[in-house]
Amino acid sequence: MVRHFLKDDDISAKEQAEILELAIEVKSSPYKFRPFEGPKTVALIFDKTSTRTRVSFTVGVADLGGNPMVIDTGSSQMGGKESVADTARVLERQVAAIVWRTYAQVGLDEMAANSSVPVINSLSDDYHPCQILADLLTIKEHKGSLEGLSFAYVGDAANNMANSYLIGCALAGMHVRIGSPTAYTPSESVVLRAKEIASTTGGSVTIFTSPDDAVVGADVVTTDTWISMGQEAEKQKRVEAFAGYTVDSKLMSKAKSDAIFLHCLPAYRGYEVSAEVLDGSQSVVWDEAENRLHAQKALMIWLAKQAG
Ligand code: CP
Ligand code: NVA
Repeated sequence: MVRHFLKDDDISAKEQAEILELAIEVKSSPYKFRPFEGPKTVALIFDKTSTRTRVSFTVGVADLGGNPMVIDTGSSQMGGKESVADTARVLERQVAAIVWRTYAQVGLDEMAANSSVPVINSLSDDYHPCQILADLLTIKEHKGSLEGLSFAYVGDAANNMANSYLIGCALAGMHVRIGSPTAYTPSESVVLRAKEIASTTGGSVTIFTSPDDAVVGADVVTTDTWISMGQEAEKQKRVEAFAGYTVDSKLMSKAKSDAIFLHCLPAYRGYEVSAEVLDGSQSVVWDEAENRLHAQKALMIWLAKQAG
């Protein structure tokens, strides 16, 4: 049966663990798995800009024996001219999977509803689930396991990264601690879902407004840009709202002494993170960026296997 990956809990906790184990194997044997031998083509559609996602999916599909086809929607018929459903009907007959970076989550739902091949969310306004798989792989590599770790996210907790961390880390049995201004806390529905998942995995979810409270005793500290793609017009307002939420050395010192720092990148030094932390010894952001490749290859192998 075809499976899609549109948000973090489209897979179970057991399946997430399976994909992460597979990612470790894929990382050590990069050319062992060939689900796209033929070569079969995978469509990589971008409505928003990207460096890591474009590179890691292009390299990943090629490593798996396939042909990556990048489509920038500005140069296609998608958007105003042709519906998502009609696009899916054209693509499903020619490609082995559809990877899409877009705005509204509802577009991904429509693509998946009309596609007989797996659809993967490579970032929407609401979720960035592929990034969380890479981040979990990175944490596993540096900490040995995930269950029971304390995970602090500071800054814009109303964005795609925060939503995906809440759900994805809860699935992994981690204790998720958010530190954000009141106006930028996660939506109630995401918090409820994450808490529901955490109650089955031994994890927990706690929302603070103070960054210090979130970070105290953490094993992992992370943040994201204060201005996500599509929010550029709100830059001034957001920079003012997030004053005091920069992850700097003083804030990092509240975490465990062996805590690691993650950032999905691109990072804005001096805003959500200081240069000292991003470029410092606790930062594992380059491992994290590389792990996009390995985690996504594992995801594609796994999805191809479910599709039979
Ligand atoms: N982290 C991430 O998704 O990076 P890109 O926007 O460069 O793809
Ligand atoms: N929250 C950021 C993540 C970038 C990878 C954005 O959506 O722009």
